[in-house]
Amino acid sequence: MTYFRPEIDAMAGYVPGEQPQTGEFIKLNTNENPYPASLAVRQAIEETLRRGLEKYPDPMAGAFRHRAAEIFGVEPDWILCGNGSDDVLTIATRAFVGQGQLLRLPYPSYILYKTLAQIQGARSEEIDFRDDWSLPDEFAAARDDLRLVFLPSPNSPSGTVVPPEQVLELAQRLPCPLLVDEAYIDFSETNCLELAARCERILVSRSLSKSYALAGLRFGFVVAQPPIIAGLAKVKDSYNCDALSIAAATAAVGDQQWLAENRAKILATRRRLVAGMRELGFTTVDSQANFTWNTHSGQPVRPLYERLKRDRVLVRYMDYPGWGDGLRISVGTDEQIDACLGRLRAIV
Ligand SMILES: Cc1ncc(COP(=O)(O)O)c(C=O)c1O
Repeated sequence: MTYFRPEIDAMAGYVPGEQPQTGEFIKLNTNENPYPASLAVRQAIEETLRRGLEKYPDPMAGAFRHRAAEIFGVEPDWILCGNGSDDVLTIATRAFVGQGQLLRLPYPSYILYKTLAQIQGARSEEIDFRDDWSLPDEFAAARDDLRLVFLPSPNSPSGTVVPPEQVLELAQRLPCPLLVDEAYIDFSETNCLELAARCERILVSRSLSKSYALAGLRFGFVVAQPPIIAGLAKVKDSYNCDALSIAAATAAVGDQQWLAENRAKILATRRRLVAGMRELGFTTVDSQANFTWNTHSGQPVRPLYERLKRDRVLVRYMDYPGWGDGLRISVGTDEQIDACLGRLRAIV
């Protein structure tokens, strides 16, 4: 006897990365920022607490929309906020993809996309990246039942981007919305934000979890043309962002100086991590994100992950059926990365 819809019974459910709450690990497994957020964030939270939490928050997070609109050069009605960018991905899937319809994603990429399709009772189609992490033509193929395409750029686990001109070309060939998931874009050299104005089918999602060091706060947003945003707004929970997160996220995007300084530190440490992993014999993809993807042809990597974990260094072991496995390592502080490389040097 089950009370669940058949598709819920049939699915395994998304398994997030390990989140030990004890603080004993050097934590390099879920691409968090190792530095504390802008001081403006703390001040905004304190100010919101002083004013009290008795009232419901602004349903559309107007303060954030206005601030972000100025910064990103759009109008506020081009922005919809979410409880983390995962919320935005959920809203888009619910809004566009019906039961039995098709959602397309590249493989390997963010595993959650497939779970979102399963929850809808929809089907998903995974198109393999080429060996150089570019997309085959097939990714833009029109199909009658295709309702939404997810494209993470930078991608996880590879940290690679699809150049904006190719994204635009893809969108122009597709019959449905293309959501470019830019959770890691602030660590990259290009972005697709301005494409939303050039093509109504392009939606660009962003996260404050990584580049603004606010994974614990839960805030993300999507930029698209106003009719798309208005449609998505019908699907979201009434108060999907709380008063503390709206105030904090508004302060965070308002401090672009903090973002630039943080980015410079992360990029410098990323260079150190990539060089160190290659010296150890790993094949490490050139990353445009705050993590690196590392494979090894000479030895299995799962034991390395386990050994690192015993040594209190947590990285992400990923095994993609039909593709292979590797270690995804987040860019921490220089000290954290040196500690990780030092432990690896002893065991590789
Ligand atoms: C590709 C990608 N998109 C979206 C997210 C979700 O980020 P958040 O919900 O914290 O904004 C993640 C998180 O790891 C991710 O890797």
